Amino acid sequence: MLSDNIQRASDGSLLFAGQSVPALAKQYGTPLYLMDEGRIRHNCRMYTETFRECFGDGALPLYAGKAASFRAIYRIAKEEGLGIDAVSPGEIHTALSAGFPAAKIFFHGDGKTDADIRYALEHRIGYFIVDNPDELNRLAEEASRMGMVQKVLLRVTPGIDPHTYKAINTGTVDVKFGVPMETGQAYAFVQDALCMPSLSVCGLHCHVGSEVFDETVFEDTIDVMTDFMAQLHKGFGFVTEMLNVGGGYGVRYLETDKHIDIPERIRSVATHLKQRIEALGLKLPFFLMEPGRSIVADAGMTVYTVSSVKRIPGYKYYVVIDGGMTDNPRFPLYSAPYTVLHADREAPFYAVYDLAGRCCESGDIIQPAVKLPIDTKRGDHIAVCTTGAYNYSMASNYNRLPRPPVVMLTEDGSYLAVRRETLEDLVALDQ
Ligand code: LLP
Repeated sequence: MLSDNIQRASDGSLLFAGQSVPALAKQYGTPLYLMDEGRIRHNCRMYTETFRECFGDGALPLYAGKAASFRAIYRIAKEEGLGIDAVSPGEIHTALSAGFPAAKIFFHGDGKTDADIRYALEHRIGYFIVDNPDELNRLAEEASRMGMVQKVLLRVTPGIDPHTYKAINTGTVDVKFGVPMETGQAYAFVQDALCMPSLSVCGLHCHVGSEVFDETVFEDTIDVMTDFMAQLHKGFGFVTEMLNVGGGYGVRYLETDKHIDIPERIRSVATHLKQRIEALGLKLPFFLMEPGRSIVADAGMTVYTVSSVKRIPGYKYYVVIDGGMTDNPRFPLYSAPYTVLHADREAPFYAVYDLAGRCCESGDIIQPAVKLPIDTKRGDHIAVCTTGAYNYSMASNYNRLPRPPVVMLTEDGSYLAVRRETLEDLVALDQ
């Protein structure tokens, strides 16, 4: 199986986190997002424990809430001792309303509005990760007006190509995030920030991309960042107290995908960082990373019910389900691969189908060319694996489809983390 939280029962039906998927579908209805709480906690600990081993108290993993943002996740992140990366007042509000401490929130984003800046200042968010000079100036003014000194990290672009898919590459010089080093703009950005009395410049941030598999991407990033730290130190005596190298470790969507040993990778990054820091005569900064996908992706599974099976002889077979690009837009957007399983049974004979959604759009395909039993029929349950990241958080109401609930699976059973949207919810904002 793709992940050790997915198994088959003796009758061939699917188990997720040890629980019967068809039974959960019956209990909660479909489409249905399942999340394995034990797996989320395990993934959090993979980061917290390895960080502690490598840096003692000198490091903190931040959960990147964009991967999946709802209260239960933030409660778990809090209990597991992580900070969070939030990109909007919406994510911040969700976290705060779940009791997440404001001091451990890092506020991201390349398009923060005046209202966003004010909101985050008023709520005493720990750190702003400032993306650009416009934001820097506005934040400095606003903090000064409020009589505050706001802690910030400055986002710079190291010019690293993470060899991931283009839409999620964020490290090269020409991306819309951060301030590029290559052009000299990043140096000036730091210099300007240091002149602002209402800001306390704690350090630097960069993020080169998501779904990163290349072994040396973070080491290469650290080379560039530590050189820049040395340049800043030489230029104006600036000591980078905090270094945040972003998120990005890839996960397995298919059996053929590589497995990344994240603790091993972190150990290697830590060793590399310490060597570079020593060689350059710098102070070891407090170390941060912002994993999103690798915390929640393999903790998720989406379950659907088949609405129709369409066989066009000589052309194509479709299995049409009761969800679609509204709950998982990642294939239409990124051609993202997924493992698709029949949730009720295994079968001696299989056919190849496109798994199609119910939206009025030909591109509404969850996954093309998947192997499912030849006798797949209306009413059967289909599971799409590894949907814990960027599925619920990217869901929409296209075609006025209500968003599915999120059900958290625990050792003792299950609970509703997000309830299913109703038809009334869909018109709740309409005047
Ligand atoms: N930090 C920053 C600044 C980011 O932009 C991201 C992701 C992360 C951390 C978390 O990266 P992760 O560990 O999850 O790879 N919607 C796309 C992914 C977009 C990633 C955006 N930024 C997808 O579905 O693949």
